[in-house]
Amino acid sequence: MSVAKPLPHDAAALHVTGQARYIDDIPLPANTLHLAFGLSAIAKGEITSIDLSDVHNCDGVIAVLTAHDLPFENDVSAAAHDEPLLATDQVHYNGQPVFLVIATSHRAARIAARKGTIQYNKEPTLLTLDQALAANSRFEDGPRIYEKGDASAAIDTAAHIIEDSFEIGGQEHFYLEGQAALALPQEDGGMLINSSTQHPSEIQHKVAHAIGLPMHAVRVETRRMGGGFGGKESQGNALAVACAVAARATGRPCKMRYDRDDDMVITGKRHAFRISYRAGFDDTGCLSGVEFTHLVDCGWAQDLSLPVADRAMLHSDNAYIIPNIRIESHRLKTNLQSATAYRGFGGPQGMLGIERVMDHAAHHLGIDPIELRKRNYYASPRNKCRKNTTPYGMNVTDFELHGLTDQLLQSSNYITRKAEIAQWNTTHETVKRGIAFSPVKFGISFTLTHLNQAGALVHVYQDGSIHLNHGGTEMGQGLFQKLAQVAAQCFDVDVTRIKITASDTDKVPNTSATAASSGSDLNGMAVKVACDTIRTRMAAYLAEYFHCNETAVKFLKDGVIIGDKTLSFSEAAMLCYTGRISLSSTGFYKTPSLQWDRIKGAGRPFFYFAYGAAITEVVVDAHTGENRILRADLLHDAGASLNPALDIGQIEGAYVQGAGWLTTEELVWNENGNLRTHAPSTYKIPACSDRPDIFNVALYDGEYRPDTIYRSKAVGEPPFMLGISAWLALSHAVSAFGPAYPHLNAPATPEELWQATKRVKHGI
Ligand code: MTE
Ligand code: MOS
Repeated sequence: MSVAKPLPHDAAALHVTGQARYIDDIPLPANTLHLAFGLSAIAKGEITSIDLSDVHNCDGVIAVLTAHDLPFENDVSAAAHDEPLLATDQVHYNGQPVFLVIATSHRAARIAARKGTIQYNKEPTLLTLDQALAANSRFEDGPRIYEKGDASAAIDTAAHIIEDSFEIGGQEHFYLEGQAALALPQEDGGMLINSSTQHPSEIQHKVAHAIGLPMHAVRVETRRMGGGFGGKESQGNALAVACAVAARATGRPCKMRYDRDDDMVITGKRHAFRISYRAGFDDTGCLSGVEFTHLVDCGWAQDLSLPVADRAMLHSDNAYIIPNIRIESHRLKTNLQSATAYRGFGGPQGMLGIERVMDHAAHHLGIDPIELRKRNYYASPRNKCRKNTTPYGMNVTDFELHGLTDQLLQSSNYITRKAEIAQWNTTHETVKRGIAFSPVKFGISFTLTHLNQAGALVHVYQDGSIHLNHGGTEMGQGLFQKLAQVAAQCFDVDVTRIKITASDTDKVPNTSATAASSGSDLNGMAVKVACDTIRTRMAAYLAEYFHCNETAVKFLKDGVIIGDKTLSFSEAAMLCYTGRISLSSTGFYKTPSLQWDRIKGAGRPFFYFAYGAAITEVVVDAHTGENRILRADLLHDAGASLNPALDIGQIEGAYVQGAGWLTTEELVWNENGNLRTHAPSTYKIPACSDRPDIFNVALYDGEYRPDTIYRSKAVGEPPFMLGISAWLALSHAVSAFGPAYPHLNAPATPEELWQATKRVKHGI
């Protein structure tokens, strides 16, 4: 079996020896030019004049463009046509690109970009959720509301009512490779773009519009990204379009890469939320109703905010059957960077809401938080008596969390450790430990149904080597290796026969972003379809050639058995070639059974759910708020894993990134909307030393496997939300300092924890 093998990432050796080629490593033609943006220095206002004479006078500057110099469409938005490449007469955030410098070196371009003099008529800014709400500044006419039953009545009549509101900060993607693009003008006026993007087809589309060409004249190639995490779904558009426009204007290759500070200042981040809740429980901890209000900071442009905010609503139930629920989501427009996709795509924020509710209720009722959660879980499919519908009317038919939770409780030794921690806390005044559990149920599929499609292109050469292209992109998640394993499995050949080259819009057209964790589900199926087509052709010909029945042809262990004859795969390929059999095929796949009405909030948006759970133990110092994760136990369901080594890597990385979001990573803007945390010096992502001291990560062998590629499950995003257990564990530790349930915001930085500790001590 090629699938299911824990093979290393196909480029692992290249990554660790520095030989893997990223955009910035591509050898450049001698006459290549380099670009940099001149940025707005205010958060909102009208541009009254731009003086670029000092920019022009800088060494190495070839040209400077403003919005008026753009030949065709001035738009790099994902959908709403509200995001110009260069600001026209208005600026909407501090850091917005206003002019574009084209120079002979990267350094020359960057130096010159600082020399522009822009005059503005400043206008009042909206920098907070409260300001945006008060100004009714939003992306849809009013809030979107999804409802099931009568939440308000259910809460009002409940035995116990809890209520609170908390802030959830955004998150910088901090991909190691910053945004980058390179445009090479072609002999016939066409354009070749190399882009660090999760979405080559979108780059192709935006570039075509920006330089007035049909899509066939623009080719986009992406070999790999040094991380994307959602931050390269739409945020690479600006660089690619800038390069194409500049290359068209100068006739020379043009390259652009953001310096880390520029990257952080210019590009969008995870959506910050404020979640308010009111929930009713009975004495046993069963939830009868909950009301959520989501205030969503979308930043200045729409980008992907509507589907992100939708997904937050769709994960407000997480693992729980909620008889009555009402979710009200306000998509607010502020004068900050335009928030964008980020691993989990709103799911983490929505899930944090209900996990906080469960935790709050457990504290209030004095019931163990895991016990209370289990009482509210969706039913196991074996237990057919309970109705298992989500707030949006989809039936949950694959619920794995009963078995998964019990296994994790055992393997983590939760009950004993919880008692030990309580005991430990009684003898420690200023330092307390905490432990917490959180489950994940994450919906798999793009909620924009038409995106759930993928293509592949497979060639078998006459020497038996196999070349594969597919619609996905590699960003470190190991998609290429998984798909090579799928192809190897289809022919039952050694995986070393398979070569995957860069994602290329000339090879596979009309692709979706590699996103929503669907890369291997969608492209894996397309690859299998293409391979199966070729295999069927080969089998038919070989049967005919050796005068036997087609069913007597078997592809086995790098060879082909035809009746009593055995050929190596290479011999079989050569024979088929000389027999004039086409050894090349495309493959196509679309996810079945999806049907979704996002306005009503009803239907089946997801093909299936991915499940996991985590238990995290932390320690917090009340004097300083300093803390660390002592131990994390993760159990995650990746179905019949295509590659357990890569999946474990995804789960580890996702957990750490999720925990980082909720603990150390804090975005701070000043009163001018100027991002103060614009470099690693001020923005703290988890370091190697922040990894849990004890880190047990395992795959769960589930019962309910979807009809996906070799029954594997999407794994890219779901384990991100296992990091929620770290935040809840900190909350648990804080609760040991006093009687009150901790009012805690995210991220729970040392400062926030210190304050929360004081609040708890004083019962507020
Ligand atoms: N893993 C690595 N190493 N780098 C990344 O950028 N992106 C995540 C996840 N895992 C990412 C990653 C996100 S946001 C998504 S949607 C999925 O990978 C996309 O890839 P997949 O669909 O192939 O899982
Ligand atoms: Mo991932 S946020 O869907 O790119």
